[in-house]
Amino acid sequence: MERLPGFRDFYPEPLPHSDVGSADARQFIFDKWRATARRYGFREYDGPPLEPLDLFTTKSGEEIVGQLYNFTDKGKRAIALRPEMTPTLARMVAAHERNYKKPIKWFAIPQLFRYERQQKGRLREHFQFNADLIGETDPAADAELIALLIDTLRSFGLTESDFVIRLSSRNAWSDFFKQGRGDAAHEYEFYQAIDKLERASPEENEQKLTALGFSLDAVNTFIKSGKPTAELQSILDNLAARGLRDFVKVDYHVIRGLAYYTGTVFEAFDAKGEFRAIAGGGRYDNLVKLISGGKVNLPALGFGMGDVVLLELLKARGLLPKFDANVDVFILIEDENLRAPSLKLVQDLRAAGYAVEYSLTPAKSDKQFKRAQELKTTFTAKFESDAYVRIRNLKSREEIVAGANDVANHLG
Ligand code: HAM
Repeated sequence: MERLPGFRDFYPEPLPHSDVGSADARQFIFDKWRATARRYGFREYDGPPLEPLDLFTTKSGEEIVGQLYNFTDKGKRAIALRPEMTPTLARMVAAHERNYKKPIKWFAIPQLFRYERQQKGRLREHFQFNADLIGETDPAADAELIALLIDTLRSFGLTESDFVIRLSSRNAWSDFFKQGRGDAAHEYEFYQAIDKLERASPEENEQKLTALGFSLDAVNTFIKSGKPTAELQSILDNLAARGLRDFVKVDYHVIRGLAYYTGTVFEAFDAKGEFRAIAGGGRYDNLVKLISGGKVNLPALGFGMGDVVLLELLKARGLLPKFDANVDVFILIEDENLRAPSLKLVQDLRAAGYAVEYSLTPAKSDKQFKRAQELKTTFTAKFESDAYVRIRNLKSREEIVAGANDVANHLG
C-alpha cells in the first residue's frame, strides 16, 4: 500500500529514504514558530480539521474552492477538510469575541489540505503557522505582524540576504481600479488578473486586462512607480524604528489570490527567487462580519507560513541542525541479577528529567554498548554491585563510581 500523492510520512532521523519527511525537522520548525509567537504575545488556538463546506465556498475565493477536499458525511452534511485556517478563526472569534480584550493576538499550527497539482513547494497537505491580530485598524498592527513574520524567519538563522517581504496594498489597487473607471462588479476579477501577472504570458495578461477596461502598460507603470500609500509608509516607518526596514520592499505585483483581503497585503519570498512564496497574508477587515452574518464586526489581519517551502529553504542554506536521539544515559545491564536495581535507576533518572535507554531483554554487553554509541548517548551507567554504579562519560571518557542513589549528581 502506498501513501497518497502529495502526502507525507514523517520518520524520526536518520531518514530511511530521501522521499520521506523528517519528524524531527518538523518539530524543530514548530518549536521555533511557537517560541517566536510567544515572544510577540500571541496565544495558541486550534479548530477542527473538518468544517461545513460553505465556510470556505462563500468566503475564500475561486482558487481555493477549486482545490477543496470535500464530501458528504454520513449525516448528509456537505463538509470539507480545511484548506486554510482564516475562516475557522473568524468563526471562532465571532462566536466569543466578548470574552477577549482587543486586540486579540492568536496563533495556530494547523495541518491544511488542498487538492493542488503536486510540484516543488506545493503538496496536498501542509502545516501552516498562522498568526492573526483582530480588533485593530491602525497600521501599527500591520507593522507588528510583519515584524513577527520577519523575526520568525530570522529565528531559523535566515538573514536579509536570504528573504524579502514584498509589501503591497489592495487599497492602492482599488484606487487604481476606480480611477480607471473599472466596473465594480469585476473588481475581484481584476485582482485575480494582477495576481497572475508574473505567471501568465504578456499576451494573456493584455487580453484579460483589456477585457476589464485596462491596458497592461498602465498596470506595469503603476507597479513600477512603487510609491507607498500613506498607510504603507506608516508601516515602513514603524519597521524602520525597529531596525527591520531593510527586510521589506514595496511591490505592487503582490495582491494575493484569496477573495477576503481588504487593505495591506504581503508575501515573503527567498531573496534569490528560487522558491515559491514562504508566507502570505494581509488585512481582511470584512471577513468576521461576513462569517457572523453581520453580528460581529471586527477588523483583522494575519499571515500563514507553510512548512514545505520553509524546509526547502532551510535545507538549501544549511540551516537545519543535526537531529540525534538525544539520549542522556544508557543503563548497561550485564548481569541479569542486577536488572531490578537497574530498572529502579532507569525510573529514578527518568523522574529526574533525564532521557534514559536500556536493553529491554538480556543482551551481550558489547551489543548494549554499541547501541548506546549509535544513540549518541552522553553517559553509560552500570551497576558494579547492587550498591555502586559506574558512570562513564562517552564524550570525555571520564569514569566515576557513585552510590546507587547518587547517580543523578554525576550527570553534569
Ligand atoms: P496562502 O497564501 O494560501 O494564505 O498560504 C500561505 C502559505 O502557505 C504559502 O505562502 C505557502 O508557504 C503555504 N502553502 C499554501 N498552499 C500550500 C501547499 N499546497 N503546499 C505547501 N505549502 C502551501 C492563506 O492560507 C491565508 N489563510 C493566510 C492568512 C492567515 N491570511 C490571513 N491570516
